[in-house]
Amino acid sequence: MIIAIDGPAASGKGTIARRLARELGFAYLDTGALYRAVALRLLRSSAAPDGANAAHAAAAVRPAADLADPALRDEAVAGLASRLGAMAEVRAALLAFQRDFASRPPAGAAGAVLDGRDIGTVVCPDADIKLFVTASLEERVRRRVSELAAEGRPAEAATIRADLEARDARDRARSVAPLRQADDAYLLDTTNLDIDSAFAAAKALVSRHRT
Ligand code: DC
Repeated sequence: MIIAIDGPAASGKGTIARRLARELGFAYLDTGALYRAVALRLLRSSAAPDGANAAHAAAAVRPAADLADPALRDEAVAGLASRLGAMAEVRAALLAFQRDFASRPPAGAAGAVLDGRDIGTVVCPDADIKLFVTASLEERVRRRVSELAAEGRPAEAATIRADLEARDARDRARSVAPLRQADDAYLLDTTNLDIDSAFAAAKALVSRHRT
């Protein structure tokens, strides 16, 4: 069974996806971390972020080793990941791993939960359940600012707002695999929900679909 979860940055999709996977005993893949891993490889190699270098970095990503790096969470890495995500050659290099993970989840799990921007539309168009998780920009800024504060990395709301806005606009406007709600995805707006209520709403949609 495959559950596809898409949505803009800081919408709550990652937390919902991780919790659903834990509860169902499914494998979980944060596909944004793959794009971030490409960005981090490029930043560390100091190569220009052009198509050829980006494709090379994408082909070199080793998920088992690369996805645990705490530096993946930096906003600069997220910004570059979004720019690289607009490159068809980068997306192509990451596609097979994502599809394999979904169809043959590791450790013999009975299913997989993948979250990202194009899971329901491109990576797993035949997913059993698709959710599109969103929230207002104001609320997403508030969440990201308090998340960073909790990690001891205080940030200006205005800076976070500009970063999120630019990233979402780019992710939605690109010609390859843009961020959009699949026609058969449930829309879950978490603006007025805390994380427990958002998770409960997602779980109810999944349960309704499974019965
Ligand atoms: O989910 P995230 O914020 O970690 O993703 C970082 C960037 O990676 C996002 O702004 C766009 C890109 N991305 C993508 O293009 N496709 C995905 N499936 C996941 C992420």
